[in-house]
Amino acid sequence: MSIRFNKQKKQFVINTKHTTYAFEVVMDRYLYHTYYGKRTSVLPEPAYQLISFAPYIAGYDESRSPDVLPQECSFYGSGDFRPNALRLSGDGTGVSDFVYHSYRIYKGRTALDGLPAARADEHTQTLEITLKDDVCGCCLKLYYTVFADVDVISRYMVIENVGDGKVKIEKCMPLMLDLGRSDLDMISLYGSHCRELNYQRVPLHHGTQSVYSKRGASSHQYNPFVALCSHTATQEKGEVYGFNFVYSGSFLDEIDVDQRGHTRVLIGLGSDCFSYTLGCGERFCSPEAIMTYSSAGIGKMTQNMHDFIRAHILPPAALAPHPVVLNTWEACYFDIDEQRLVQFAKQAAQTGFDMLVMDDGWFGMRNHNRAGLGDWYENKQKFPDGLASFVAKIKAEGIKFGIWVEPEMVNPDSELYRAHPEWALRVNGREPLRSRHQLVLDMSNPDVLDYLTEQFDRTFQGIEIDYFKWDMNRHMSNVGSSVLEADKQGEIFFRYMRGVYRLFDWFAARFPNAVIETCSGGGGRYDLGMMQQGIQIWTSDNTNPYDRTMIQASALIAYPAATMSCHVSNPHENLRSLDYRYKVAVGGMLGYELNILNMSEEVKREIAAQITQYKSFEHLMRAGNYYCLAAPHAYDYSAYYYAASDGTELLLTVIEKAGNKKTKTKRLKMKAANPAKTYIECQSNAQYSGAELRAGLVIDLACEQDSAHLLHFKAL
Ligand code: DGJ
Repeated sequence: MSIRFNKQKKQFVINTKHTTYAFEVVMDRYLYHTYYGKRTSVLPEPAYQLISFAPYIAGYDESRSPDVLPQECSFYGSGDFRPNALRLSGDGTGVSDFVYHSYRIYKGRTALDGLPAARADEHTQTLEITLKDDVCGCCLKLYYTVFADVDVISRYMVIENVGDGKVKIEKCMPLMLDLGRSDLDMISLYGSHCRELNYQRVPLHHGTQSVYSKRGASSHQYNPFVALCSHTATQEKGEVYGFNFVYSGSFLDEIDVDQRGHTRVLIGLGSDCFSYTLGCGERFCSPEAIMTYSSAGIGKMTQNMHDFIRAHILPPAALAPHPVVLNTWEACYFDIDEQRLVQFAKQAAQTGFDMLVMDDGWFGMRNHNRAGLGDWYENKQKFPDGLASFVAKIKAEGIKFGIWVEPEMVNPDSELYRAHPEWALRVNGREPLRSRHQLVLDMSNPDVLDYLTEQFDRTFQGIEIDYFKWDMNRHMSNVGSSVLEADKQGEIFFRYMRGVYRLFDWFAARFPNAVIETCSGGGGRYDLGMMQQGIQIWTSDNTNPYDRTMIQASALIAYPAATMSCHVSNPHENLRSLDYRYKVAVGGMLGYELNILNMSEEVKREIAAQITQYKSFEHLMRAGNYYCLAAPHAYDYSAYYYAASDGTELLLTVIEKAGNKKTKTKRLKMKAANPAKTYIECQSNAQYSGAELRAGLVIDLACEQDSAHLLHFKAL
C-alpha cells in the first residue's frame, strides 16, 4: 500500500519507492503538510509559530494562523497571505475557505474530463480528499495519484458547485507544496523560438519568482518544468524536487519565499489566462501537475522524470522504434510537388530511410506562408492526380508516408477564413493581430472541430497515412470567442486546449495505425500534455549542431530522449559537418532534412551507414537510462551516456563545442557498467572491463571544428 491513513492522528502518508509525503488534518479543517523527502517512517509533528499580523480563527490559539501553516491547498481571502492555490467565489469577493470533510483511497485512477493524464498501471493508487465550503456552496476534491515505482506523485483538483448559485473560479493551482526551507536553487528552462530550453539555475530569493505562459501554448519562452535543489546539489548528490504540468496551454509555476523563509510551490493554470464559471450542479476538473523528489542529486530526479514519462505519459507506440524520416521542410520549403517527392521517396528508400514526411506546402494555395491554412485539401497544381494516387506512388517505392498539418490555424487568405471569419479567435470591434500571417482558430467552438474532422476525414479518405507532423505556429492574442457568453470568455484558453486534445483523440481513433510528431515552431509545446499525444516532439527549428547540443542537453534534464526529434540538416547544402551533425542528432530520435536529390553517392552512402549504425543502438536512447557526465553549459564539451537497464550496453557520446581548447575530457565514469563484465567497443573492437568503464575513460579531444566521439560498448 503506498497510501495510508492513521485514524488516530488523522495523518495521511504516501510512500513511493524512495520518498515519503505526509500531511495531517489539524483543527478539524486544515491539511497541514508535514513532510516531503527521503523515505522515512519517522515523521515530524505539526508545529505552530506565533507571528504578528497573522489572522486566526476565533476560539483557537493565535499561533494557528493559516498564514503560517504549511498547507496542501490554500484559499484567497481567508488568512493565508501567500500566493494561493485557489481563488473562487459566488459573491464576487473571491473569498473561499474550504474545510476538510472526508477521504477515499482507491486503486488506479479516474479520467480527467477530456484532459491528458498519466496512465495508471496495476500499482497506481489514488487518494481523494474532499473539502467543503458551505458559504460558496462548493465541494473541492484534491487528488493524489501515486506512481510509486518512479517516485512520482501527481495532483489535480475537482470543484463541484453543489449550491444554488453561480460560482466563478479565478485562480486554480492543483499542485501546492509548502517547504519549511528556502536554502534552494531554482532550475528552469527559458528561451525563444529557435533558442528553446536554455538552462538557468539561480538561488531562491524572498518574494515570488515564477515561470509562466500567457500565450495559449506552454511556449518556447518558459518550459513548465521547474526544479528546486539544494545549493550544493550536483548530478549525483544533494536534494532535488522536480515539478511539471501535464498540460500544453498557458500556465503558471509560482515559487514564493515568505516572511519566515518558507517556500511555497504552486503549479497550475494561474489566473491571468484562466477563469471558469460553474452553474449549479456543474464541475470543473483541473489538469494534473506532478512532483518527484531525489536525495541523490539532479541525475536521479531526471531519471524519475524519464521513467515516469516513458511508463505513464508517452503513448505505447513511442516505446517501439521511431521511424527514421526524411522530412522535406529544410530541403524544399514550399516548393514541393508529386514529381519531386516521388524522386525523394525513391532515393530515400534506397538510402535506408523508413519514411518520407511531406512537410508544409501540400494543401490549398499554400505556396508561401501567407495563404492556405485551413484549406485542408491537396493543391491540384502540385498533385494533379490527387493525394491518394501520390501516396500510392510513395508507398510503391517501399517507404512509409507522413504528412504535415497545422489544424489549429487559419490564414486570412484562405477559403475557410473567407467563409467563417467568426471561427478565428478575436475580440468584437478589434482587428486581430497576426503572427506568421495567421490567426488562431477557436478550438473551443464545436463547429470548428466538426469542420476540421469532416475535412481531414474527406481529404485522407482511403489513404494510408503512417505519421502526422502536427504543428502550431503562433501564440494567442485577442482571445475572444464568437460562441461564448461574456461571462464565459475567460474560459477560452482552457476550452481551447480541451478542444485541441479532443481533436488529437479524433485523429488517434480515425488513424489508429498512424503515429504523431507534435511541433510548435520546434519546441513551443515541449510539454507533458503534448507528449501524451505523439511519439516525439520536434525539439527546435534550430538544427545548428552547436545550438542543438545546448538545447538537447537542457531538454534531457526533464524529458527522455524518446521525446526528442533530432534531424540532421544543412539548408545550405554544405555537408562538411555531416558526421558531427549525425553524432549530435543521435542524442535523440534521428531524422534528416536534406535535399536527397542533390546528394553525391558518397554522401548517400555515408547517410545509409549512419542509419544502420543508429539502428544498432537506437533502443538505448529510446528505452535506456540517461546519465549526464559533463553538461555543455559548464564544460567545453558535452558528455553523456545511455545505458541499458541491465548495464549490458552503453553508448558514450562526447560532443566538442566550437572553439574547444581542452585536449582531454575529464574522467568519464560510466557507473552503470557491470563490474563483473567485459565490454567490447563496437567500432574499434577494443575491450574494457566493467570496472575500467566505471572508473572512467578519458577521451582525447580533437580540438578541431565539428568533432564528436561516439563509443558503443556491449558486454561480452
Ligand atoms: C515550423 C516547424 O517547426 C518546421 O519544422 C516546419 O514544419 C514549418 N513550421 C512549416 O511551416
